Amino acid sequence: MSQGVGAVDFHGQESEGDAMKATRMSVMADLIRRNGWTRGAELGVWKGDLFGYLLAAFPKLHLIGVDHWRPIGPYTGKNMEAAEAIVRKIVEAHPGRAQILREDTVLASLGIPDGSLDFVFIDASHDTASVCGDIGAWRPRIRPGGALTGHDANWPSVQAALDELLPGWQLLGGNVWIFTCA
Ligand SMILES: C[S@@+](CC[C@H](N)C(=O)[O-])C[C@H]1O[C@@H](n2cnc3c(N)ncnc32)[C@H](O)[C@@H]1O
Repeated sequence: MSQGVGAVDFHGQESEGDAMKATRMSVMADLIRRNGWTRGAELGVWKGDLFGYLLAAFPKLHLIGVDHWRPIGPYTGKNMEAAEAIVRKIVEAHPGRAQILREDTVLASLGIPDGSLDFVFIDASHDTASVCGDIGAWRPRIRPGGALTGHDANWPSVQAALDELLPGWQLLGGNVWIFTCA
C-alpha cells in the first residue's frame, strides 16, 4: 500500500503567504485543475458553499454531496431545511452532474462503486470515530492515484484519525489535508 502524495499534483501554494490566504475553495479548485479530476464526492455539504463553488468553477465536474441535514450537535438550532433547500437549487442549476445523497455519510458510501471517484472531501462530523468511519467507508471508492482530502486538519480530533489511518497525510492551505490512494 503506497502512502503519501504519490502522483497527485498538489503544489498549489508557492509561498507561506499564499498558504495563509488559501481557503478550502481555492485549495480544492487548484487540486481539481491540476489533476484534471472530474468525479468527486463531498461528505458534509451544509449550505453548499464549497459544493456550489466547485460545480460552477468546473463544468466537467460530477460531484456527489452527502448530508443528513439533521439539526444535531453543532447544528442544533440551525435551519437545516433551509440549508438543504439551497443545495437542492445548486443541484438544479447543474443538471446531470450534481447529485445529493440525503443520508449518513457511511451508509451513503454503500451505493457508490469501488474505484469510481477521483477524490473525496471529508467534512462531516469531526470527532475521531466519525472521521475514521468516513475514511474507511470512502477510501475504496477512490481510484488508484486519486485522493482522499478533507477539511479542518487543525482539529486534534481530525488529526488523530488521519494519523491512525492515513500515515503520511499532508497539510495544504486552508486547513485542507490530502492523502493519495494506492
Ligand atoms: C462543516 S459542515 C460542511 C461544510 C461544507 N463542506 C463546506 O465546505 O461548505 C458539516 C456538515 O456535515 C453534516 N454531517 C455531519 N455528520 C454527518 C453524517 N454522519 N452524515 C451526513 N451528514 C453529516 C452536517 O449536517 C453539516 O451540514
